[in-house]
Amino acid sequence: MPRKIIIDTDPGQDDAVAILLALASPEELEVLGIVAVAGNVPLPRTSLNVRRIVELSGRTDVPMYAGCPRPMLRPLVTAEHVHGPTGLDGPHFPYPQNALQDQHGVDFIVETLMAAEPSSVTLCVLGPMTNVAMALVKEPGIVRGIERIVAMGGAYFEVGNITPSAEFNIYVDPEAAATVMACGVPIVLAPLDLTHQVLVTPPRMEAIRALGNPAAHAVGEMVAFSERFDREKYGWDGAPLHDPCVIAYLLKPELFSGREINVEIETMSPLTRGMSVADWWRVTERKPNALFLRDVDGDGFFALLCERLGRYPLPG
Ligand code: BDR
Ligand code: CA
Repeated sequence: MPRKIIIDTDPGQDDAVAILLALASPEELEVLGIVAVAGNVPLPRTSLNVRRIVELSGRTDVPMYAGCPRPMLRPLVTAEHVHGPTGLDGPHFPYPQNALQDQHGVDFIVETLMAAEPSSVTLCVLGPMTNVAMALVKEPGIVRGIERIVAMGGAYFEVGNITPSAEFNIYVDPEAAATVMACGVPIVLAPLDLTHQVLVTPPRMEAIRALGNPAAHAVGEMVAFSERFDREKYGWDGAPLHDPCVIAYLLKPELFSGREINVEIETMSPLTRGMSVADWWRVTERKPNALFLRDVDGDGFFALLCERLGRYPLPG
């Protein structure tokens, strides 16, 4: 039986690759719905981008929703400097013919989890945690339906990418992240420490492009756009695929390793807002609340990604 998942996302090129990876894996993952949140770009863009990616995938059966247009307490911070003004700069996407559901994304999450068997739905969170936190505030009883939350967010050894001390997804809505981290369900975090190990190097890019189908072509174009930022900023040999780590973890957990530790979110300090304070060395008595992933088999990850992207049909 495939694992039931909800994807909560702010596409973003790496979100798009994560969605394509999930939608190419129906034996393992049943995608109950995809919910957009404001993050990399504002909500009208992220929800349009969800529609673009789902249309590219050829899947007409996956419902899509728009969630929250801004963080719980703060004005929205976006990342067009990384992802471009559309959030999905790179390929040309035709205007999608599909449509969002009318229901609000937070209500979809609440309704789905309240109707679910106990511990049966996995939440995959690829952007700021606003929608999930709002769902927890609206109906705390949803925790019963959650199997676990797997989220891209935070950093410890790599510290920050949007400020010296904070990773983007947590920084944008630290109150939401703090709400989620305290909710008591099992949580897996894919922090920058992990995602900075999966770089699309030139040979990996070639392998993706060689697949020859429209989905893989779009992935190549998206990564080619987003990598210029990482090359200039970090001097790296390619772009990191942050969000696909969440989906790859569900498909092949044996590629990953980490530690069960306590992770708290800084919400008060203007200097370190959104810092994920990870007790990696277990120097406090604070109870572990997350599996904090630290290492990944990068070649295994790319072999999985190429195999799954290769499932999309060739043109014509
Ligand atoms: C995270 O921020 C976004 O820019 C990416 O999509 C990813 O989810 C990395 O910090
Ligand atoms: Ca994202």
